[in-house]
Amino acid sequence: MRATAAPADLFDEIARLKKEKNAVILAHYYQEPDIQDIADHVGDSLELARAAQATRAELIVFAGVHFMAEGAKILNPTRKVLMPDLRAGCSLSDSCPPGAFAQFRAKHPDHFVVSYINCSAAIKAQSDVICTSSNAVRIVERVPRDRPILFAPDRNLGAYVAKQTGRELLLWQGACIVHETFSERKLATLLVEHPDAEVIAHPECEASLLQKAHFIGSTSALLKYAESSPKHTFIVATEEGILHQMRKRAPGKQFIPAPPNQNCSCNECPFMKLNTLEKIHLCLRDETPEIRMPEELRIKALEPLQRMLDWSK
Ligand code: 13P
Ligand code: SF4
Repeated sequence: MRATAAPADLFDEIARLKKEKNAVILAHYYQEPDIQDIADHVGDSLELARAAQATRAELIVFAGVHFMAEGAKILNPTRKVLMPDLRAGCSLSDSCPPGAFAQFRAKHPDHFVVSYINCSAAIKAQSDVICTSSNAVRIVERVPRDRPILFAPDRNLGAYVAKQTGRELLLWQGACIVHETFSERKLATLLVEHPDAEVIAHPECEASLLQKAHFIGSTSALLKYAESSPKHTFIVATEEGILHQMRKRAPGKQFIPAPPNQNCSCNECPFMKLNTLEKIHLCLRDETPEIRMPEELRIKALEPLQRMLDWSK
């Protein structure tokens, strides 16, 4: 049963092109339900990076945002990496411009640079190791104790990791527009209406919201928790696309999106939602737009990314 009324021939055509061109579709949990359902792999940033590195497919269609597709190209350069819409960026990644970051680093030359994967290849190339929300605590714990740490670009994830590890982190002041949108006042009202509900939250949320969470984790960790917890009702503080997988994997449970501050759809990532089935079809058919980058930059960005994969085995 399809989640929406997209024409059946669109699904058939995508399946046909995928086979004909030996393509793989990787989709993040924040994609619309139909895209998640046609994907070969749906996952969080770490799982998708691993899938991108391991695939033998000729074409990788990345239904996610730019830094994710760029990561696939860095890890698997002989494949053609396509994105349905090149404008699918990320507010967090944009909050860390390479020139300003280079100046910041230059002021702290002794610091070990840990960068969240939500950043451009140019920031990765200036980092010692990369992390995702699912391995950030483990990665920071691996940094030699005698080295001070600079963490970029997400101040909220950084503050959370500092608290978990007891390490002092010098934070770049970046943030995600989606995860900073949740209203604590409306959350409190929801909890009165659903006193047995558990709040589960992504660590990109602000500390004051995380304080109210029963469980904090990456998209995959939130999904696993919701599936295995004996509780029935969950208020989910992350992008609402994840609710599709939660409802599929735990059909008897109730999942309520955490309410945004305004009466808006601000808990939908506007970048992730630029991707559509129609654009996936066109990008498979025309093999464009393609992710390209200078080889020198790719090699510099690969080192910290590969270090992350090695450290989180
Ligand atoms: P995850 O790695 O937890 O899937 O997070 C990706 C992301 O962009 C969160 O906003
Ligand atoms: Fe970037 Fe936020 Fe969208 Fe994730 S939800 S891709 S961090 S803008």
